[in-house]
Amino acid sequence: MKSRSLTGVAAIAVVAGAQIFTPSQAADGDFFTIVDGALDRPTGYREWIYVGTPVTPNDMNNGKAAFPEFHNVYIDPASWEHWKETGNFQDGTILIKELVSVGSKMASSGAGYFEGDYLGLEATIKSAEHFPDEPGNWAYYSFSTPDHSSLLESASAFPKEACNACHQASAADDFVFTQYYPVLRAGKGTGEEAIGGVKSELK
Ligand code: HEC
Repeated sequence: MKSRSLTGVAAIAVVAGAQIFTPSQAADGDFFTIVDGALDRPTGYREWIYVGTPVTPNDMNNGKAAFPEFHNVYIDPASWEHWKETGNFQDGTILIKELVSVGSKMASSGAGYFEGDYLGLEATIKSAEHFPDEPGNWAYYSFSTPDHSSLLESASAFPKEACNACHQASAADDFVFTQYYPVLRAGKGTGEEAIGGVKSELK
């Protein structure tokens, strides 16, 4: 009897241990792996925190938009925790931009732009350890292939002129275009209110 109740205590301790684990305790590298400067294609991001979907369609850009697709953007859960507590992007932040074609332009709700098929994948990571010489310690990657039918297994960072410079010049918050991500804007440093539905005001 005594040993049975001890087992029960041990089981409760294990459950309690699991409950107090939060994503912010995840070690750096849990959400990405860089080997010899190359980033393995991150996985699992469709279950991270979704932050917004910009689109710059060709037909609003003389038929040749630089990035004509939808961009579904996600942040890793540990960095989201940090963002909502502090309003800053922590070292080790990874943001994913999944490219989705403009599909149908008509729905039963009216004319518009509707997401079609997956086309590619990009990522940006902030890491002083890996990118000490990049402005803001942000590096940029693409796993997209020219025919958009598959993704690369790993990718090397772009030179800073290719990506970092535009982000540095125009992004609202530490190289990240938070001005286009309502989830990050509304959640910045707001703690529990960041989870949505808590406040009555819309902003
Ligand atoms: C001319 C400016 C410009 C250049 C160059 C540029 N970007 Fe961006 N990037 C943007 C804008 C604007 C957004 C947000 C709106 C959007 O996605 O259309 C963005 C968003 C992103 C995001 C989502 C996270 C964030 O920081 O907001 C990633 C990832 C990204 N870009 C990767 C890249 C990569 C990789 C390159 C280089 C191949 C690159 N970008 C070059 C302007 C640029």
